[in-house]
Amino acid sequence: MSFGCFAGNLENLTDVQDAANYTFVKGDIVSASDVQKVFTEFKITDVIHLAAESHVDRSIEGPMEFVMTNVVGTVNLLQAARETWKNNESHVFHHVSTDEVYGSLSDEGLFTEQTSYDPRSPYSASKASSDHFVRAYFHTYGLPVKLSNCSNNYGSHHFPEKLIPLMINNIREKKPLPVYGKGDNIRDWLWVEDHAKAIDVIFHNGEFGESYNIGGLNEWKNIDLVLFLCRLMDKKLGRNEGESEQLITYVTDRKGHDMRYAIDATKLARELGWKPSITFEVGLENTVDWYLANSEWVEQITSGAYRAYYENMYQNR
Ligand code: TYD
Repeated sequence: MSFGCFAGNLENLTDVQDAANYTFVKGDIVSASDVQKVFTEFKITDVIHLAAESHVDRSIEGPMEFVMTNVVGTVNLLQAARETWKNNESHVFHHVSTDEVYGSLSDEGLFTEQTSYDPRSPYSASKASSDHFVRAYFHTYGLPVKLSNCSNNYGSHHFPEKLIPLMINNIREKKPLPVYGKGDNIRDWLWVEDHAKAIDVIFHNGEFGESYNIGGLNEWKNIDLVLFLCRLMDKKLGRNEGESEQLITYVTDRKGHDMRYAIDATKLARELGWKPSITFEVGLENTVDWYLANSEWVEQITSGAYRAYYENMYQNR
């Protein structure tokens, strides 16, 4: 059983729609009875929990949805697992979380699994809370949990409100490229397929009750990343060198904007043998190619409610 969220889209699952071990159930994670029904009907043995409201800007606009989905939703899942599983040894509850629970770094240092939690946005506070509940169910009820905390993901099918797909889309459409503040915040980018492989290895071989940090070993300043994308896409789209850079627009900074995230993924490498498989340059080029080849997917996903939301956010900056 794997849980998805609002940025999910059934079209992303066409590759597996005919698989014998795949079933799609539409339900609300905030409803304890919806969750329990799935456990009972499908005799759920294991969980990979990825369902979350994940966009920091949305959490600043409306924190309560983040409390409901990320905190109440997680506790509903934990509770259903606890009530259903009689023999804890034969199950796994893998909770997928974020490095943002650790707060913000200055120029030095990396987040390790020992770093104290210091969430600073409503989003990261909700994820920190969900992590605490997962550990509480391990210590109190012996629920067989494993946790992972990842850095910023990128890759195909990424909901285009996040930095990389948003910039790719806006460069393609020759729209302004909104860079928050001075663009000197730093993120550590992780290719989504490497993240999926890390989840797989932790799910199967990780220790119960343990957390594993997953990072791309790949820190970039936002503005350098946006410039890199502009140059790459000028080439791909046959534009003059420097043309897309003209679209860069510095906008009001995000409230409480975390300065730098960077992960120390040594534990995962040492204990479970995982490491990132491709360079950022190759991963980014694959990602740009995917978005250029799938502009209809982007059109479909950004029409309607999302477009109105985005335009409103942009106008208010
Ligand atoms: P984002 O993709 O929202 O991920 P997160 O907030 O979880 O790190 O943002 C990545 C970085 O890019 C972050 O420092 C905020 C910045 N950013 C912009 O400068 N402009 C944008 O339009 C967006 C969405 C993000």
